[in-house]
Order: sequence, then C-alpha cells, then structure tokens
Amino acid sequence: MNKGAAPLMSVRDLSIGFRTKAGLARAVKGISFDIARGEILGLVGESGCGKTVTALAMMGLLPGNSQVTGVLEFDLEDIVKMNEEEVRKLRGDEISMVFQEPLTSLNPLWKVGRQIDENLQMHTDLDRKARFARVVELINDVGLPDPERLYHKYPHELSGGMRQRIAIAIAIACRPKLIITDEPTTALDVTIQAQILELLKKINDETGSSVIFISHNLDLVREICSSVCVMYAGFIVEKSPVEVLFSRPDHPYTIGLMKAIPRRESKGKKLTDIPGKVPSINDRLPGCPFEPRCSYAFERCRAEIPRFVSLSDDHYSMCFLAGESRSNTPRLKP
Ligand SMILES: Nc1ncnc2c1ncn2[C@@H]1O[C@H](COP(=O)(O)OP(=O)(O)OP(=O)(O)O)[C@@H](O)[C@H]1O
Ligand SMILES: [Mg+2]
Repeated sequence: MNKGAAPLMSVRDLSIGFRTKAGLARAVKGISFDIARGEILGLVGESGCGKTVTALAMMGLLPGNSQVTGVLEFDLEDIVKMNEEEVRKLRGDEISMVFQEPLTSLNPLWKVGRQIDENLQMHTDLDRKARFARVVELINDVGLPDPERLYHKYPHELSGGMRQRIAIAIAIACRPKLIITDEPTTALDVTIQAQILELLKKINDETGSSVIFISHNLDLVREICSSVCVMYAGFIVEKSPVEVLFSRPDHPYTIGLMKAIPRRESKGKKLTDIPGKVPSINDRLPGCPFEPRCSYAFERCRAEIPRFVSLSDDHYSMCFLAGESRSNTPRLKP
C-alpha cells in the first residue's frame, strides 16, 4: 500500500501486560484503532484504564517487565517488531510525546534552548548556527516572548505554562508526524490550559501532524479532537467521530462519563460520579469489564466479553445492547 493512503498509525489487537510477582498484570487488552493523517484523536477514560501505557508502547518506552503483543503499525512499519535502535530513531523525530508535568520531562540542569537543540542535534544534519536559529524560531512558534533570552533560562526560572510550551517546542522540533500529548494541561490553571489547547490546534493546523490527545476531561476532548476512543479497564469500549460521541453516545460508560463532566460551578470535580470503581488490573472478570457498575447489565454481560458492534461506518460500541434503547433492561442483582 502507498504510505500516504494508509492511516498514519494502525493499532491492531494491542495487548500490554506487566510481569509482576502476582503474575501478568494486564493493562491493555486487545485494542484496535487507527489514527488518520492530520487528525486529533482523543483517548479518554478514568485513571488506570491504560491510556499512558498505550502511549508509551507507541514511543517504545515501556519498562523491561512489559509484554506487548499485537500490531502498532506506524507508516506501515510495525513498532512492536522494531529493535531498540530503530525505535530510538523514530522517537523525538517522527513520533514525540508531551507529558503532563514538564518538570519531570525537562532536564533541570540544562538551559531550555539546549534541550530543544539536543533533539535537533540527534535527528538532523543542521550545523550549530542553523540549529540556534531553528531553536529561536521554535521558541517563538510556541508563543513565548523574547526567544533569544529564553534560550538561556533554566526550567525552574519559567512558569508551568512556559515550561509546557518548551516541552511542546521540543516535541515539534523535528516536525514529527505524530505528537502524543498525555494530560498536557492538567497541571495548569484554566486560562493557561486554554492557551496550550489553542497552541496544539494551531500546530496541528499548520504542520498537519496528527495528535493523540490523552485526557480525563471530556470538555477539552470535545473542543480539540476530531475522533475519540473511550477506554475502560484496558479496553476501548466506544469509538467514534467527536460530534457523534457527544450527540449519540452509546456505551453506558461513555454516558456515565458525560454525566460526570465537571461543570464550571463544581470546579475541580473529578470523574468519580459513576458508582463503583474501575476493576483492579489483577481482576480476571470473564464478562464485560463495566458490568459491575452498569445499570443495564444482564446475565450474559457477566459471562462473556461483548464484541465491538458497528453502529455506523465509524461508530463502534462494545456492548451487547449497542444501538438499543436500554430502558427496559433489568439490572442484575449484584
Ligand atoms: N511498570 C508497570 N508495572 C505494573 N503495572 C503497571 C506498570 N505501569 C502501569 N501499570 C498499570 O497499568 C494500568 C494502566 O496504567 P496507565 O498509567 O496506562 O493508566 P492511565 O489510563 O494513564 O491512568 P491516569 O489517567 O491515572 O494517567 C494501571 O493499573 C497501572 O497500575
Ligand atoms: Mg496516564
């Protein structure tokens, strides 16, 4: 297949486990989705459902006790099959990542300009002078003032929002095809959060890089993403274009998340409105992972994992009652 016609990334039956003393802890359980060229894809779900480990697998950054199966095809090359050297070439160059707290991803002992420069040095043939000019341009591109002065600042001399802009400058330095952002605005206040979102949208618009936007916050996802995967306990339980998800959500978990969207008047409220909690990574439920919390569950949900049901071309829901009105379904006794 011609590269340009294929999705940028194609994830097929991806499973991620961790070898622990208690056995294999299964964090991601056979997920499949595509990332189109130039799109912003949201990955949402409560804490512990496998968003970050999915991203780390794409970056080849999972720890040694991990076990990955399935396919992570990026531009038609399978990342799962690549060796360390091949993944290192991709990382920071074609795929890059912005983390929640830039203080942990930035080196506290290096001036920020040098940190952006390092990525250019690693992945381009530019000479020192050309790299300096490019770093200054990048600092300017991410909306920071006085780039030549900022070049020489240390991370602790900048505000949280400025540091996140520097982390974004590092991520876009080599014009990657895919930028993964993992809760990039969670540590920031609301105004700065909106600015960072604008910046990501602008980068996506101007460079055509695809973005994976990982978040707890459905309001942000609605604002920035074109399509969404909703994750629950290592599964993707629903995926669809963003406008379809918000106008016709299907999966009871998605509907629960939407009811839990924090409103302005209840600032800071977390997504804990769905009764019950996410199953532990060591639970081996034979049925639907959401069954213990679902108000529509029936016998079969406890015994069997539902398959992904296609509700339209690009809308899928992992539920036995996908597409049906659930109003008459009795709840199983707990
Ligand atoms: N190195 C590891 N060894 C064992 N278990 C791990 C390891 N890394 C992650 N996990 C487990 O994998 C599961 C998924 O974690 P992950 O960090 O992907 O969740 P998340 O969806 O990103 O959550 P959050 O919203 O809190 O960031 C969790 O149960 C976590 O404890
Ligand atoms: Mg995470």
